Amino acid sequence: MVREFTNIQEASKAAVKIIIDIARSAAVSQGFCSIVLAGGSTPRQTYELLGEPRNAEQMPWQTSHFFWGDERWVASTHQESNYSMADKSFLSKVHIPEMNIHRISTGYENPSIGAAGYEKLLREFFISGGRMETDGMPDGNTFPSFDLILLGMGADGHTASLFPGSALLEEKQKWVVSVPTGIGSPPVARITLTLPVINQAKNILFLISGRRKRQILDTMLARPAEAERLFPAARIKPAGSLVWLVAEQD
Ligand code: 6PG
Repeated sequence: MVREFTNIQEASKAAVKIIIDIARSAAVSQGFCSIVLAGGSTPRQTYELLGEPRNAEQMPWQTSHFFWGDERWVASTHQESNYSMADKSFLSKVHIPEMNIHRISTGYENPSIGAAGYEKLLREFFISGGRMETDGMPDGNTFPSFDLILLGMGADGHTASLFPGSALLEEKQKWVVSVPTGIGSPPVARITLTLPVINQAKNILFLISGRRKRQILDTMLARPAEAERLFPAARIKPAGSLVWLVAEQD
């Protein structure tokens, strides 16, 4: 589903409503909600709106758990940190238990160890925490089903930190991988969820703005096979719902 908006403000309001609706229904149906946050700059307004009292008071913060789809390999206080952006935009302003914030730690020795560390955190949350069915699943091919994954898309069609032409797009077993330095903007090393994890989500919400990204989406809709070869975002085909919120202007 593609929903179009004049500007990012209107698209952000729609995103907030979707987040609240999913968080509230998951709290009732399963007693928790797992939400993966996108990085970059586009989601900032959505996060700021979510932190505003009239929206924050509708969120079941006690049962809402927040994760990240990717993180730059910088300190958590660094201006380029996806965690820092979300923390400043809303997490630091709402009454959410600290234990419900599951950031990608960049304090490990190196990104590869960092990716393994985040995968361990996710496995503990979902498998040890009894939040995932693993009976009868083939070993090595069990993936968590996040209730909601927010995604952005770069002007090159990347999403999370899965970039065009990357061998990481073919990862079939790991939940989390590291991305070498020199790719993307900023060109730092990164940690990212893999396609199998992202595509296991119950709900995926893309938030994009601007003409170039709209053109990429149009290609994805018109020529899906070609788009899959060019754009990682075209490989996002979730088990659940896929909604694009498209703002004409930034
Ligand atoms: C990141 C983001 C990335 C982002 C796109 C779009 O760490 O860079 O997770 O995937 O969603 O680059 O970024 P903008 O929304 O800022 O254009």
